[in-house]
Amino acid sequence: MRVIIASDHAGYTLKERLKEVFASSMAFEDLGTFSEESVDYPDLAHPLSDKVAAGDYEFGILICGTGNGMAMCANKHKDIRAGLCWKPEIAALVRQHNNANILVMPARFIEIETAIEIMKVFFSTAFEGGRHQRRIDKINL
Ligand code: RB5
Repeated sequence: MRVIIASDHAGYTLKERLKEVFASSMAFEDLGTFSEESVDYPDLAHPLSDKVAAGDYEFGILICGTGNGMAMCANKHKDIRAGLCWKPEIAALVRQHNNANILVMPARFIEIETAIEIMKVFFSTAFEGGRHQRRIDKINL
């Protein structure tokens, strides 16, 4: 599976760790950031969201301190459904009910073990369709 990933400085360490853990099962395009030097999360979130919205990638991953800044930016993009996940149960539901195409994680508030479980669940859970498709069709303005 090819996935595009990005973080700000607060998410940098978690991003690097997740790339190592999933190296054998996922091919990552990493848009940065590439150090713990302070950056602005919109500068990462918008280019990644553009690529997912264009269909270059089916799924993206965004990581910042709380996850909120990344989610706010990503969800400005038409056809992007970015879900902030802090436990695996949320990751399951954001795929089943919301057909999320960007996984957002809050690096400062989850342990690496939780992030790994969130990743496993997010990428192995299918959208349920049905009434959830009707609701998703009402998201874009
Ligand atoms: C960076 O300090 C922090 O504001 C950022 O990572 C994120 O939490 C914003 O939503």
